[in-house]
Amino acid sequence: MTGPFDYSTKTVFVSGGTSGINLAIAKAFAAAGARVGVMSRNPERVAAAAASLSAIGPQARGYTADVRNFEAVTAAIDAFALEVSRIDVLVSGAAGNFLALARDLSPNGFKAVVDIDLLGTFQVMKAAYRHLAKPGASVINISAPQAYIPFEMQVHACAAKAGVDQVTRVLAKEWGPEGVRVNSISPGPIAGTEGLDRLAQSSQADIAGHIPLRRCGTVDDIARAALFLASDMASYVTGAVLPVDGGWGLSASGGQAG
Ligand code: HXC
Ligand code: NAP
Repeated sequence: MTGPFDYSTKTVFVSGGTSGINLAIAKAFAAAGARVGVMSRNPERVAAAAASLSAIGPQARGYTADVRNFEAVTAAIDAFALEVSRIDVLVSGAAGNFLALARDLSPNGFKAVVDIDLLGTFQVMKAAYRHLAKPGASVINISAPQAYIPFEMQVHACAAKAGVDQVTRVLAKEWGPEGVRVNSISPGPIAGTEGLDRLAQSSQADIAGHIPLRRCGTVDDIARAALFLASDMASYVTGAVLPVDGGWGLSASGGQAG
């Protein structure tokens, strides 16, 4: 592949890159020629993802770590950087969510999601920082419209994703002078994903009825946005939260994902 989306000289690390949206992002970079590393908790998932990525691009690496464990995250990212020498693109996408009213949610339930989504994003970025190929490197955090739309039964994830977007903005300012761009992608309801399965309270057709473009997104919609944001085509874009949601987030409630 040639042109702005040729990643054959690039390296890409994707936290949570072993399923769903994040795996699709990893696959898009692999298909564009990048050397890709993925990291998540489940070793079988990690192995399967690395194998599927290696089948469509250069040999991929898989690492088993929980984003809540800074030492383990650092070891995984250091190992990837040792293999590929530097990190051009970092995608932080590991997340957890479930529906629970605040009155039924234990402090540890709230903490689990904040620790995965928010603290995890910070820890992945912090561990990768010294390996980022500055200038020219790019970070993409995976957010959600829950960052600005207050959904009942998701106080934990709303708080966590709001924090993720502020991490994006603050580090865009801190790292910009070094040539590192930091952005978020905010996916709408994405068909065929764990996230939508967990959160949907009505049919996909009903959800689509609340979306201006009248369909749920696909994992490839999100992967294409990641290819753009990490490319030179987006070289003046930093600190942005890019909605890739068919306009779902424009309505007052966002149209409850279910
Ligand atoms: C209430 C729950 C709960 C539920 C867990 N907890 N599930 N509380 N309702 N359905 C509580 C537990 O009781 C416990 O609190 C605490 O959360 C931690 O639970 P564990 O099972 O020990 O946590 P852990 O094994 O670390 O698993 C983390 C997890 C799990 C988030 C709870 O669901 C997970 O691993 N999810 C990853 C996959 C995922 O969620 N994918 C969708 C991402 S999509 P106590 O007090 O009992 O100890 C997404 C949606 C889009 O993020 C955007 C939204 C922002
Ligand atoms: P998913 O398939 O459940 O993917 C989550 C990934 O994160 C998995 O690879 C999982 O692997 C990993 N992970 C979870 N907890 C982890 C932890 N503590 N440490 C390391 N890795 C962990 O979810 P998805 O629906 O595709 O969502 C992906 C991203 O998109 C998330 O950031 C989510 O918030 C965002 N998003 C999704 C939607 C949607 O409609 N699906 C909408 C908006 C935003 P292991 O289980 O092996 O750890």
